[in-house]
Amino acid sequence: MEKYLVTSALPYANGKLHIGHVAGAYLPADIFVRYKRLHNADVLYICGTDEHGAPISIAAEKEGVTPADIVERYHSSIKNSFDGLNIEFDNFSGTSRKAHHELSQTFFTELLENGFISTKTGKQFYDEKEKRFLPDRYIEGVCPHCGKDGARGDQCDACGKLIDAETLVNPISKISGATPILKETFHWCLDLPKFTEKLKTWLETKEYWKENVVNFIMSWLKEGLIERAITRDINWGVPIPIEGVEGKVLYVWFDAPIGYISSTKEWAESIGEPEKWKDYWLDQETRLIHFIGKDNIPFHTIIWPSLLMGQNEKYILPYDVPANEYLTLEGEKISTSKNWAIWVEDFLKDFDGEYLRYAIAANAPENKDADFNWKEFQSRINSELNNVFGNLVNRVFTFTQKRFEGVIAKPGKVSVKAKETLQEAMDLVVAIDEAFNTYQIRKAIKLIMDIARRGNRYCDETQPWKTIKETPEDTKETLYVCGKLIQMISVIFYPVIPTHITKLRVMMGLSEIPKWDEIEETPTITLSDIAPLFSKIEDKQVEEQIAILTEKSKAVQVKEVTPIKANIEFDDFMKADLRVVKVLTAEKIKKTDKLLKVEVDDGIGTRTVVAGISKHYKPEDLIGKNVVMLVNLNPRKLRGVESQGMILACTDGDILTVLHPEKEVSSGSTIS
Ligand code: 2FM
Ligand code: ZN
Repeated sequence: MEKYLVTSALPYANGKLHIGHVAGAYLPADIFVRYKRLHNADVLYICGTDEHGAPISIAAEKEGVTPADIVERYHSSIKNSFDGLNIEFDNFSGTSRKAHHELSQTFFTELLENGFISTKTGKQFYDEKEKRFLPDRYIEGVCPHCGKDGARGDQCDACGKLIDAETLVNPISKISGATPILKETFHWCLDLPKFTEKLKTWLETKEYWKENVVNFIMSWLKEGLIERAITRDINWGVPIPIEGVEGKVLYVWFDAPIGYISSTKEWAESIGEPEKWKDYWLDQETRLIHFIGKDNIPFHTIIWPSLLMGQNEKYILPYDVPANEYLTLEGEKISTSKNWAIWVEDFLKDFDGEYLRYAIAANAPENKDADFNWKEFQSRINSELNNVFGNLVNRVFTFTQKRFEGVIAKPGKVSVKAKETLQEAMDLVVAIDEAFNTYQIRKAIKLIMDIARRGNRYCDETQPWKTIKETPEDTKETLYVCGKLIQMISVIFYPVIPTHITKLRVMMGLSEIPKWDEIEETPTITLSDIAPLFSKIEDKQVEEQIAILTEKSKAVQVKEVTPIKANIEFDDFMKADLRVVKVLTAEKIKKTDKLLKVEVDDGIGTRTVVAGISKHYKPEDLIGKNVVMLVNLNPRKLRGVESQGMILACTDGDILTVLHPEKEVSSGSTIS
């Protein structure tokens, strides 16, 4: 019997689950697990929350609570979201649990004893204001590889490459906004170069891996592996198991994947067979499959296998790492900070979780990024689930109920047309089997719908509502063919929408959970309690969702605060000569889209200033207005015009508003 250990990337316990997460590492895995179980494979599906690392500590600091509080809150929020989507793990653990700490420490100790870890002194970014080191996500800057802004201290989201923090361009502390200094510290480092040859030999056997994954690894190996620090100067995490070492913990990416093993051990304990985890992790026959998002590729294909290779226990190595690309939302990158996301818990308040499963699966970001948008969601549910599959089920079931007392049986003779139709469907089933087996869920769904479409067409062509009058045997045959197609779909569609399919199978008098082999059989179907399987999504519902999405993200934009700059002395402030001035003339500077040339009365005379406000103010809106101006700024030339000061304005999102006193005051009034 095939044996699989399937994992989904452990989500960070620092926020709620959104649809982008679902599309990357969870739904594809859950579908694969259910599919393999249809084939009677022995499958264990493991996950848990990733509870260490900078994201958790940052969230805790922001809220003034402990990291453990954050973990507790989001562990259950994430678990509830998975439950609502019928993503069913055999075990869902968490990496701050004692057994996980112990196992991670064993991994460290064995690597140390086996000569794969050594200490190194080096420089690391340090926030002088906060008096602390800035590991990983505590720091951001411009990526040294692709030049994009917003790269973190350990990885760049834009290009996916790992980063040595000190190579970040324009680094900024995420805590204080200050520019950090480099300060000496020491760390334990994993000697990745020592694994190069072993990794290459192992990877050579992976010609069946997805192309995006192989390309990534090959370019990494070509560049050459380097030693990587696996400890951090913070307090939240797995302590280094060395006497006398304080204030240092394991890097989150060292301990997180070990969570796959500790969660399996927890599962074994929970079923009362504590040694059972070994049947999976220590048996070379087990196929270990890690479902992840593409940003996790280097960790799962280079670093994690190296950690496993460096252990004395003969752990299995990953058999496959099907990484998915990203899901965008209404054409934009999903962003938790901008609240441009659909949170699963919100979705579940308004819609059936399996509708999300279907919509994402039908458009999964398998080989390139894919977009989720509400209109398409509505169309998938209405035009595919309802109008194609739901319609086939409805018409066949209601007709059978009315005319044949709910019984669909094989007729005495089966026509060539009927046989051909069933054969076409069987061919599609073979292709669907192959598609699920190779993680091509989109393709599988398209082909499943093709079977349902074929059923509707067959029904239209054979016109049972007509044949019932003259040749009821033909009607029986139509219902037999369509019933058979529905029974096939009730097997192959189960991994995608399991509860709906279970309902369908109960109506058909079939066992709740199907088996793939059953496709070969033709049971007599006896219908009971038939009811529509799906309902439609109204225009109003999606319009509401689009409005909510836009409103939520606007609210965040308004709330987004710019960090306060470093304090200055009172005397420094007093150096600024701020005055109220009156705008006398204003005109656009030719060939620019932002600049206005403005003449003002400063109470002493007239001065000219160039202001970058023409997108927000027409010249005539400014003339006669009292505005606030910094008048002792060194003059500078802009587009050939000498600017003798600066008009003050505030920015709110994209909107710029000039400041002006509430009451009419004389030109030249000073501000203090
Ligand atoms: O990227 C992430 O969300 C990580 N928390 C994934 C960890 S996967 C594993 F190795 F635990
Ligand atoms: Zn980059």
